[in-house]
Amino acid sequence: MAQSATTNTLATVPETRRPRTERRDAWWLENWPFVIVMSVFAIYTTWRALAGDYYWTDPYLSPFYSPLIDPQHHWLPRVISPAVLILWGPLGFRMTCYYYRKAYYRGFFVDPPACAVGEKKSSGYCGETSFPYILQNVHRYFFVIALVFLAFLWYDAIRAFFFPNGIGLGVGTVAMLVNIILLTGYTFGCHSFRHLAGGRLDCFSCSAAAVTRHGAWRGVTRLNEHHMFWAWVSMISVALTDLYIRLVAAGTIKDIRLL
Ligand code: FES
Repeated sequence: MAQSATTNTLATVPETRRPRTERRDAWWLENWPFVIVMSVFAIYTTWRALAGDYYWTDPYLSPFYSPLIDPQHHWLPRVISPAVLILWGPLGFRMTCYYYRKAYYRGFFVDPPACAVGEKKSSGYCGETSFPYILQNVHRYFFVIALVFLAFLWYDAIRAFFFPNGIGLGVGTVAMLVNIILLTGYTFGCHSFRHLAGGRLDCFSCSAAAVTRHGAWRGVTRLNEHHMFWAWVSMISVALTDLYIRLVAAGTIKDIRLL
């Protein structure tokens, strides 16, 4: 079924412009879910970051605004939202992530389009060894920055138990807690962190430090094996957590207290 759909679709493309591949399955379909979800996420995030409103309702703080810098606009011009000051960190971390790179090269640039499908250009392809793609190597530094953001988000999630009338548990608390757990799973499954934990080590049992690093490497590997899963669920949970807090802060819905 998929094979004949692909064959029919490609039959309408002149032979010289068809992708160079022996694949006859619907390989181009794989990229669509990423393109759709990523586009929606990018539009929503941009709108929320620029809006600069409804990001706080005691004790919840939107993850798009954490850490919250100069919310009273003492020195930050009113037209600039506090989110703009900080979103470069998590955004840079995701945009240089190995999984996202593969997904948006395929989905948005269609170059390379998929496994076992030829490049658009037949020569001169340098991968990520030349400018501008070589800049993707900053990912290891964004990993360190992401750890700082994680610390703030963990603080926010714990702070979300402390309501103005005492300790409690709301749907917002649960959302923030789930969100930070998913973000932690995503961050600690990072390929750069895996290399940091166990890379450049020839012997895993030659010293106590090496044994410890081997244990850490195995833990990171377990997360890393499902890195795509963590990337998806953490991205969706960030947006949904922000949406919930926005709706409560705007008075559109009331926060449901569970305890
Ligand atoms: S490789 Fe995806 S977060 Fe580092």
